[in-house]
Amino acid sequence: MEIFGVDIGGSGIKGAPVDLDKGDLAQERHKVLTPHPATPDAVADGVREVVGHFGWTGPVGITFPGVVEGGTTVRSAANVDKSWIDTDARVLFGNRLGGLPVTLVNDADAAGLAEMHFGAGRHRRGTVILLTLGTGIGSAVFVDGVLVPNTELGHLELNGHEAEKRASSKAREDHDLSWEKWAHRVQKYLAHVEMLFSPELFVLGGGVSRKADKFLHHIKGIRAEVVPASLQNNAGIVGAALRAATGS
Ligand code: BGC
Repeated sequence: MEIFGVDIGGSGIKGAPVDLDKGDLAQERHKVLTPHPATPDAVADGVREVVGHFGWTGPVGITFPGVVEGGTTVRSAANVDKSWIDTDARVLFGNRLGGLPVTLVNDADAAGLAEMHFGAGRHRRGTVILLTLGTGIGSAVFVDGVLVPNTELGHLELNGHEAEKRASSKAREDHDLSWEKWAHRVQKYLAHVEMLFSPELFVLGGGVSRKADKFLHHIKGIRAEVVPASLQNNAGIVGAALRAATGS
């Protein structure tokens, strides 16, 4: 079965039809730059362009980088325009896509669903936490494969700062940190999350999962297993389509 997945990120809006039997993109993805300011109207135009590129007419799953209540309403907007807050994004995107059925899910939750079904978290029981280290830090918490949605662990406080301002991939670039220095910040953050949740497994996602060889070996002293996401940058697209298909 194929369902369309769209991933709205801090730098790009990416999408493709997803082959849900394989857990992979069915065609090469299409990307447009995320508009700045990333207002609801401007982002919806980007989503329409991505979906329209494929002439898609079926159901669409869309990720959003903030809290998504009940698969419809946006309740936070840390890295996009504040006017998103309280927007019924399912209605907004549905209208912009000419009435196609739309399912909305938090971006990290989508990546986590994809990793649990097809990737690094497959068949893993107990507590598994996926963290996406990108423009912000997103989290997806699973207990025996069941998602606890909208956990927002990127906003935990770490040494007096919001964790995502210190340990996201953007923080590494903004502060011009070496991989090793940045890995130490990630390590501190993981130790903090581990103290709170005692997971069996951490899956590290986002663009940096492709560069795990540069930083993973610098992360030490974490009891849980720490592995890179295996769907890498396509996890959000695949997870959005999965959510649209199964609602889980
Ligand atoms: C948002 C999360 C999101 C994460 C990654 C955070 O700032 O609050 O909802 O999952 O960034 O985009």
